[in-house]
Amino acid sequence: MINRHIERIIQKSLHDRKVILLLGPRQTGKSTLLRERFTGEDVLWLDGDDYDVRAILTQNTSAYLKNLLKGKRRLIIDEAQNIQGIGLTLKQIHDHVKGVEVIVTDPGSSEMTSHLDVGRIPGNA
Ligand SMILES: Nc1ncnc2c1ncn2[C@@H]1O[C@H](COP(=O)(O)OP(=O)(O)OP(=O)(O)O)[C@@H](O)[C@H]1O
Ligand SMILES: [Mg+2]
Repeated sequence: MINRHIERIIQKSLHDRKVILLLGPRQTGKSTLLRERFTGEDVLWLDGDDYDVRAILTQNTSAYLKNLLKGKRRLIIDEAQNIQGIGLTLKQIHDHVKGVEVIVTDPGSSEMTSHLDVGRIPGNA
């Protein structure tokens, strides 16, 4: 397995109470990194490719999100680009659900992220 420098950056950032966006083109290892290093007990993994997950995450009242994340220490949303209104949902989680770390993957070309000028997993790393 190729070691990922970004793993340490993610580890450090988790304590900052930020929502971490892991951006990178297709097949560059985003899901693998999260599955191997950032899952475990009390981690809720939601895959935006799944129709049910898309339905779950388009609901974004703070009460609903608090209940969804009750007892969880971390939320991982893979393939977030497929979830309508995910930006607002993430803002609600950040603002109203305390103590939950959030990591989100996205290819970086979605409505939420295409305008961002940030570090990404390089396509050949
Ligand atoms: N650190 C690594 N070292 C070697 N191979 C890896 C590594 N990470 C991922 N791979 C391999 O690269 C391929 C793509 O990985 P992965 O599915 O995690 O990418 P992805 O960025 O999530 O892709 P997508 O955007 O299509 O979901 C897989 O075959 C996986 O086994
Ligand atoms: Mg993936």
